[in-house]
Amino acid sequence: MKIISKSALYVFAALTVLLFMAACSGTADIGEAPSDAVCKSIVDVKCVQCHYKTRICDSLGTKSVGKWKQSIKFMIKQGAQLTEDEQNKVVACLSSLPRGSEVVCK
Ligand code: HEC
Repeated sequence: MKIISKSALYVFAALTVLLFMAACSGTADIGEAPSDAVCKSIVDVKCVQCHYKTRICDSLGTKSVGKWKQSIKFMIKQGAQLTEDEQNKVVACLSSLPRGSEVVCK
């Protein structure tokens, strides 16, 4: 009896881990888009040293997640300072915001 409950526990633990991994990989490893306020603050702080936000505004609604990732990598090569977490967040933001969104365009 003791052995059965122990192995049941292992199975349960393994299933939990598997479910957790499946849930995480579902959102293409960048996670859900953060709130507008978070998106806006990253863009306002990190993306205006080199060009106006109009550059970013113009690109809203034209790029996939993968294309935004490439763009952000390019900005970092130019010298943009973004942590891994901020990169993921800003990609999630920019790929989900509609064209002309006030978050970036105002
Ligand atoms: C260190 C300077 C720098 C910073 C900081 C920077 N960029 Fe850029 N960005 C550039 C340069 C250089 C270009 C290219 C300009 C050109 O094409 O004439 C560019 C162009 C762009 C473009 C238009 C080209 C494309 O890839 O679609 C977008 C969109 C863009 N940046 C988004 C961002 C975002 C979002 C951020 C903040 C995460 C950011 N940039 C921060 C330097 C920077």
